Amino acid sequence: MKILLVYYTGTFNTRFLSNRIADMLREEGDEVDLHEIDPSKKYRIDFSPYELVGFGYPIYGFAAPRPFLRFVRHQKFPKNLKGFIYKNSGETYHDNDASSMFVLRRLRRRKVDIRNEYHFGMPYNIHFRYADDFVKEQLVYADKLARIMIYELKHGIQNMSKRYPLRPRFITWSVARLQYIAGDINSYMYRVYKDKCISCDKCIRECPMHNIYRDEKGEIRFRHHCNMCMRCSLRCPKDAIYIGFIDNWGWRVNGAYNLKKIEAMEYKPVIDENTKGFFECYYESFSKIDRRYCEIFGGEPREYHPKAKSTGMVTKLLRLLFRNKDVREQ
Ligand SMILES: Cc1cc2nc3c(=O)[nH]c(=O)nc-3n(C[C@H](O)[C@H](O)[C@H](O)COP(=O)(O)O)c2cc1C
Ligand code: SF4
Ligand code: SF4
Repeated sequence: MKILLVYYTGTFNTRFLSNRIADMLREEGDEVDLHEIDPSKKYRIDFSPYELVGFGYPIYGFAAPRPFLRFVRHQKFPKNLKGFIYKNSGETYHDNDASSMFVLRRLRRRKVDIRNEYHFGMPYNIHFRYADDFVKEQLVYADKLARIMIYELKHGIQNMSKRYPLRPRFITWSVARLQYIAGDINSYMYRVYKDKCISCDKCIRECPMHNIYRDEKGEIRFRHHCNMCMRCSLRCPKDAIYIGFIDNWGWRVNGAYNLKKIEAMEYKPVIDENTKGFFECYYESFSKIDRRYCEIFGGEPREYHPKAKSTGMVTKLLRLLFRNKDVREQ
């Protein structure tokens, strides 16, 4: 089958995931092309050679990022093109469930036939840094979910219900709008700590929106077309970027995850029945993946506590406010 994976990425987690999915599909004999969305331009790509298209994005504020939506809006799709969504985010709380709401509306209006959607857990690029051993476990389960996804797609097994539940729909509907303008506003506060900066210009070269430049005095400045992707602040070698309210909330993460290196690490499970607090959502999502994986490919799923259930938005917000003790930081 000729397949296209089209995705948006800020800090390259979605790029890593897309390459992993492409490798797995190629192992099965499919011909796979990848297209990384350039958020700084308006352009169209040709979908007509493809039998199946995967749409990949990281969740920002319980929704698909603005550049991803814009890209979809500008495309012309062949009639009844078959597609699927693979989204990823730092936590697997159900509050993220309806994040594709606006994307789906746009795709379906253009007669793209989407019946499958998959939510992968990848390391947080905001909020707090995940420890490598936990990221390794995320990658193990991302691989399992990718295998489930490929199997279901190839066997015509749909996994989407007609409507998302009310709560995630309400969360996405209300937060997404704020998220879409937040970067442009937040960027008025960005600045570089001169005492830390080594003038490597990596932030200028890598900003996907060409939003960072040097003025006539040679000072680093920020324009106001920011996606809030965190690429500049996460990948700055000296942690020299003040990234507005994200810093004020103590949510800046610095230092890119070395996913290739983490992938090669020995796997020791981190999440188990004693996991409490923030990571409980992974207890539920890993258990679901394990069960489905074993249904399809055989084997015994790992034993999970039968009452495993992820907490909701209110509990989560309280935990964020009071900084839960078992949040793991490196
Ligand atoms: C502005 C912003 C908002 C985010 N909002 C959420 C969110 O609502 N839920 C979540 O689980 N993760 C959230 N994340 C984390 C990212 O979805 C996650 O780290 C993702 O893997 C990043 O992918 P990328 O490296 O391809 O950009 C957010 C990240 C950013 C930068
Ligand atoms: S990436 Fe960091 S150290 Fe390099 S120029 Fe930008 S702010 Fe300075
Ligand atoms: S300024 Fe930083 S956060 Fe904004 S789009 Fe550029 S790299 Fe991303």
